[in-house]
Amino acid sequence: MARILTGIQSTGAPHLGNLLGAIRPAIDLAHQDDNESFLFIADMHSLTQIKGGSELRENTYSVAAAWMAFGLDTDRTVFYRQSDVTEVTELAWYLNCFFPYQRLTLAHSFKDKSNRLEDVNSGLFSYPMLMAADILLYDAEYVPVGKDQLQHLEMTRDVASRFNHKMGDTFVVPKELIREDTQLIPGVDGGKMSKSKGNTINVFDDPKVLKKHINKNIITNATPLEDSKEPNGSVVYELYKYVASEADAKSLAAKLRAGGYGWGHAKKDLLEALVDGFAQERDEFNRLMSDRSTLDAELKKGAERARLVAQPVLERVRSKIGF
Ligand code: TRP
Repeated sequence: MARILTGIQSTGAPHLGNLLGAIRPAIDLAHQDDNESFLFIADMHSLTQIKGGSELRENTYSVAAAWMAFGLDTDRTVFYRQSDVTEVTELAWYLNCFFPYQRLTLAHSFKDKSNRLEDVNSGLFSYPMLMAADILLYDAEYVPVGKDQLQHLEMTRDVASRFNHKMGDTFVVPKELIREDTQLIPGVDGGKMSKSKGNTINVFDDPKVLKKHINKNIITNATPLEDSKEPNGSVVYELYKYVASEADAKSLAAKLRAGGYGWGHAKKDLLEALVDGFAQERDEFNRLMSDRSTLDAELKKGAERARLVAQPVLERVRSKIGF
């Protein structure tokens, strides 16, 4: 049995790209019989950017509701809020004391912003050590991450090895499980869907809002209604393929190629696929968002289970240090 652990950024309700590209595969992995999985919402990392209690709290709730609406089984997976297991900050401090300042200056999370040093807080600077603590606190063996997190994972392995070398074997040195970006879900403008580009589709939106968004913002070319249209490469069709059945996708392609079927019709099909295809998830998301006590109870249950694993590991570290 392998123990896998990963952290989720808490930047608000996940969009279609997150859901199909990251959340669904992560849930599948977490539910595999032989895995024991830990999944947490990294709200302490968010604090490096977000200063405002209600925004932080709401982001955590919408992330938790989205994962649960997509079927995460919170009995099989230890699902918790990072800030509920404060042991992690103690471990982060110890790790900070075993990692060279020089190496931290090379972290992308910091370097990307180092041209505006006045905007960099010390938390952002030592972000990789909090992330290392997230992982090492649970003796995690595998960490599924996107390519952008590889460097952070190397630092985790590095600090674990340094500590083990200096103080004697203490930490499990984790391996990464790279999540290939096989699904490059296009955004409404045709570029990769990402929150920072403002081109997302939020499947949890009210169908009326979705409709407006799709009609207004998905780009199409100006081929007249009666002409034949090439579906491949068009944003509407590329998106449709991700959310409709194979048979429905084929049928839409045929209609577009035949002519007499406009982009407006195709948008309507896409809307329908999004509204109907995610109806159950949307209902569950909304139900959970209006029932904070269930979300709190679920996250609390996860934190209690997480603590049971974290505390003995932290004790091990303390005794090695000499405390
Ligand atoms: N830094 C990760 C990201 O931006 C989130 C994260 C925090 C994480 N702690 C982690 C991922 C521990 C894996 C393991 O996506």
